Amino acid sequence: MKTDLLILGTGIAGLSIAVKAAEKYPKRNIAIVTKLIPEESNTQYAQGGIAVVLDKLEDSFQNHIKDTLISGDGHCRKKVVNHVVRNAPKRLKELIRWGAQFDKKTDTLLALEREGGHSHNRIVHHKDITGSEVIRALLHTARELPNITFLDHHFALDLLLDSSRKKCFGIMALHQLSGTIIPLKAKNTVIATGGVGHIFGHTSNPSIATGDGIAMALRAGARTRDMAFVQYHPTVLYQPGVSMPFLISEAVRGAGAHIRNAAGERFVLQYDPRGELATRDIVSRCIYEEMKRTGKSHVFLDATLLSYSHFQNTFPTILKKCESIGIDIRKDWIPIVPAQHYLCGGISVDKNGQTSIQQLYACGESSYTGLHGANRLASNSLLEALVYAHEIVLHIGKHLRKNIFSKKISTPIYDLTKPETPKEILTILTQTLHNVMQHYRGIVLTSEELRTATELLEKLYQEAKALTYQYRTTASLYEVINMITVAQEIVVQSLDQNKNRGCYYNKDL
Ligand code: SIN
Repeated sequence: MKTDLLILGTGIAGLSIAVKAAEKYPKRNIAIVTKLIPEESNTQYAQGGIAVVLDKLEDSFQNHIKDTLISGDGHCRKKVVNHVVRNAPKRLKELIRWGAQFDKKTDTLLALEREGGHSHNRIVHHKDITGSEVIRALLHTARELPNITFLDHHFALDLLLDSSRKKCFGIMALHQLSGTIIPLKAKNTVIATGGVGHIFGHTSNPSIATGDGIAMALRAGARTRDMAFVQYHPTVLYQPGVSMPFLISEAVRGAGAHIRNAAGERFVLQYDPRGELATRDIVSRCIYEEMKRTGKSHVFLDATLLSYSHFQNTFPTILKKCESIGIDIRKDWIPIVPAQHYLCGGISVDKNGQTSIQQLYACGESSYTGLHGANRLASNSLLEALVYAHEIVLHIGKHLRKNIFSKKISTPIYDLTKPETPKEILTILTQTLHNVMQHYRGIVLTSEELRTATELLEKLYQEAKALTYQYRTTASLYEVINMITVAQEIVVQSLDQNKNRGCYYNKDL
């Protein structure tokens, strides 16, 4: 297959690039690849919303810029912050044109909520399922556009590069239903494969978040940045033994819920005067310290103070979940614990979303633009994806005529003749990875722990790599290799940090 634009991933980044490009260049063909089905992505689970300054009387771009810079702890690219914040209203308008619906305050005004680190109410949302509403609208629009082809159950193995390894011409993909490996050649390729949560085991991300795009880019030699800034979400539902994570949106704290220890104390105030509305890095770290101090496995979110009818209207999914496990939010506190949530760094891109490899772009969580600095401000991630999707589509348009398919593409070697890797082997490798990351690359760490992680991960990588000689190429084997590859990069870049900032905290610095 040959296409003008090949997009990997069906989250907000991938789908908005597909829709925009298909509308703007109706004669060009666009293919969108997903390892499962298009409905499954990190975006699908985003509860909070999109940060946008709409109320210019109460709020301003300057406020949003300032909040983003404070949250990023002096590590954001100011130009990028400025650009993203100022373009937010235009990109939101477009998303609404594509059919996304957001909660309203009046017939004409959108309801604006607040989250940690924001000085004003500016979060546009659809109840507590903003991500799934955005995906519903984008998927519906994309499916109506005749020049978009969906390639479901296609696992992206590696990038296709020319012999100089400076240009990308698509990917090699494993069609998981037929078990065949095929080249998907493209003039332009976008990695929009989302996050890396499953490297950590304890995460708010769905199980597909295995860092495939970032690993693929690393193998191809693309530059990555700020991989040390792993963000933890402070309020993930504490459910021991349950593998499917459930987030309690920051917007619940934005609405006034308090964090308490088992004794009922609002300990967060001892760490930061902003209390529950401090940025995520600070709230997560203080919960971690409190759990350590008290020897408890979790703390609580107290929403008993909130208006029940407001909760019912704004957070129906969270309410349902709490009720399903016997928590009555009118009188019970919700058990919570911080869990890995977001990677602030990723594949380094320029202002056009282009990576260090020509004709290869990255967008969304798998990219590093410089917006988030050392700690992403809540609800800036969907926004970043929308703004950069726009830049990528414009940039691709300028070069569509020029980039031709190379005849000299080096194709990696795969094996489909050998047996599949036994599931137990992959489970052990994954569990070992989770243990290493949990013990040696947590919210708070030491240099010694990082050095131990480096050694253990190298051993693990060698074990996983050896399996590729013994067993056939499968998505599950590749996922394990991808997770270890990204974990190694996170640890290497963590060791490079010489000061603590944002979500990176080394006790030895
Ligand atoms: C949340 O609803 O708390 C998540 C929003 C985000 O990650 O920005």
